[in-house]
Amino acid sequence: MAKYCVTTPIYYVNDVPHIGHAYTTVAADVLARFWRKNLGEENVFFLTGTDEHGAKVAQAAQNAKLTPKEFADKVAPEFEKVWQELRISYNHFFRTTDPRHEKIVQQILQKLFEDGHVYEGVYEGLYCEGCERFYTEEELVDGKCPLHPNREPQYQKEKNYFFKLSSFKEELVRIFETGEVKILPESRKNEVLGKLAGELKDVSLSRESVSWGIPIPWDSSQTCYVWFEALLNYYTATQFLENKEKFWPADVHLMAKDILWFHTVIWVALLKAAGLPLPKIVFAHGFFTVNGQKMSKSLGNVIAPKELVEKFGSDATRYLLLGEFPFGQDGDFSLEKLTVKYNADLANGFGNLVSRVAKLCENERLEVEEYKGDFDSRFEKLFSEFNFTEILALTAEKVTEANREVNEKKPWELEKGEKVKVLKSLAQKIQHIAFNLSPFLPTVSEKVLQQFSGEIKVDKPLFPRIK
Ligand code: ME8
Ligand code: MG
Repeated sequence: MAKYCVTTPIYYVNDVPHIGHAYTTVAADVLARFWRKNLGEENVFFLTGTDEHGAKVAQAAQNAKLTPKEFADKVAPEFEKVWQELRISYNHFFRTTDPRHEKIVQQILQKLFEDGHVYEGVYEGLYCEGCERFYTEEELVDGKCPLHPNREPQYQKEKNYFFKLSSFKEELVRIFETGEVKILPESRKNEVLGKLAGELKDVSLSRESVSWGIPIPWDSSQTCYVWFEALLNYYTATQFLENKEKFWPADVHLMAKDILWFHTVIWVALLKAAGLPLPKIVFAHGFFTVNGQKMSKSLGNVIAPKELVEKFGSDATRYLLLGEFPFGQDGDFSLEKLTVKYNADLANGFGNLVSRVAKLCENERLEVEEYKGDFDSRFEKLFSEFNFTEILALTAEKVTEANREVNEKKPWELEKGEKVKVLKSLAQKIQHIAFNLSPFLPTVSEKVLQQFSGEIKVDKPLFPRIK
């Protein structure tokens, strides 16, 4: 039986949820909802969660005058709450402080150690706490981390256990070139391969100066480097399930391009070393700006998902996030652009179609059978290609056609027999559109499918116009 396992990154709890996190998580949810309808509910596993260990979280907790665990216990539910508001249907919400995770991570570390993939050394260099990673001088821009120019990289010299990443170089190249692990979009694969062509250095697997983490089983003076155990969440989660074999390896890891290196080179080498099966696809979408600027606390332009939900509603927020620019490319959001799209596609488009056809049907006391159909025949391919904008464009086209049909056929001017025929066909088109949109608009679609089942009645506008 085919199965589908999709993951989002586990987000650092030092930050509160914003639309960057929502973007990836909504995309994963749309995929999960589509494949559940295609493969059956029980054959899809959708994983998200929070990354709770490491220096950055420890620091944030200290600033909040809480212990790291208290701090994580406070923030993790904020993510869960936002995901509820956005109707995110994850199967498991992962927290890296879950004792079951700590145990599995320690077992894997011990195995890596025994199998000779680990050695003791000294790391000396600059560390960006924002990224939770070491940087070489060459990687910095004007001495600053390219992703966190506001944070000063920290000079560190400490005893570390190292993971022999370099020994996997040739194998990694082969795995990515042959598509054994597919890196998408294609341009990202080339980036990773390009970088892999240079020197591949071994990486720290443990930290001496960070106490907030999972202890290294053979040396309790060290904790596991946060990225190693964070990546392992994907595997650990599937081991909580009754059928441990079913969902690992994952079909798709989703993330933005900022953490693609970890999800390809480091993650795949780690799995290889541990003798575990490899994920099938690693998809890195773009990074977006807000009004042309990088979203950041210091600029004060961080958009909370709640703001969008309050303005547009939960379903429309999902639709707008994925409909604005192609998945995989960088893009820009602004409230103005989102409002224009909301009014065009949802208020004047789908919403208007539903309300005018419902009104005409109600006048005729028209009845339709419950929708028993399927998705558009092109969807399976488009969902496999993560082409959300094309899927939404196809659906928007169907809405436009149906609205045009109402204008042109003017059912209200037709004699009874013909009128019923035209309205029935329009009602069926609405059912099909609603079903097609159901991964994006779970609440509204369900409502429309109920409204257009049996005797059709007028209901409140689905998407009131917004200024
Ligand atoms: O990196 N545009 O967590 P994180 C698009 N804990 N996506 C964005 C975005 C933006 N402007 N801002 C954030 C971590 N994202 C680690 C992950 S996984 C084993 C460990 C999204 O909280 C996007 O998915 O920094 C990005 O990859 C992720 O948030 C980074 O989340
Ligand atoms: Mg980050």
